[in-house]
Amino acid sequence: MKKILKIAAIVLVVGFVLAQFIRPSFSNPPIVPGETLEESTTVPADVQMIIGRSCGDCHSNKTVYPWYSKVTPFNWFLANHIEDARKEMNFSVWNTYAPKRKLKKLEDIREQLEAKEMPLPSYLWIHRDAVLSEEQSGLVLEWAAAEGLRLKNENPQ
Ligand code: HEC
Repeated sequence: MKKILKIAAIVLVVGFVLAQFIRPSFSNPPIVPGETLEESTTVPADVQMIIGRSCGDCHSNKTVYPWYSKVTPFNWFLANHIEDARKEMNFSVWNTYAPKRKLKKLEDIREQLEAKEMPLPSYLWIHRDAVLSEEQSGLVLEWAAAEGLRLKNENPQ
């Protein structure tokens, strides 16, 4: 019995070590001038700061890769999250979205913040500084509402 456990432990360790060679390739797509959220509209400095810190690692091309991005299998979860998140909404290419899509995303932001579903809870376990206070969440909500109105006025149907 002891021997089997020992072999199992060795297999696990060797497997873990070998798995380290199988890593996703991480890259930040280039940021194209004129495409970012900040360039498309006015974003108050405090809102920019909050979005950058609490959403930017997943919803922008300015991801700061944490230490566990080097550890298989965690890096695969990370790669998956970033890919999905950028596909849903990427502040670095915000200005390539049509007004209708921007409006939809602003509405989604409101929903996600009110339901406290974003930032992803699993991300907050490690990134404690990305936790949003009620006040910070309120600032983003206020901005999203104002930006929604501005877009609607600019693009009457
Ligand atoms: C750790 C990565 C991560 C962080 C940080 C993060 N998100 Fe997300 N977000 C995702 C992923 C993954 C998805 C797509 C899958 C899903 O909807 O759960 C997503 C989806 C969304 C969507 C689209 C949801 C829908 O209606 O389909 C919105 C809006 C959003 N996030 C807003 C935010 C905001 C605002 C922040 C910051 C306050 C934030 N996210 C922080 C990973 C993240």
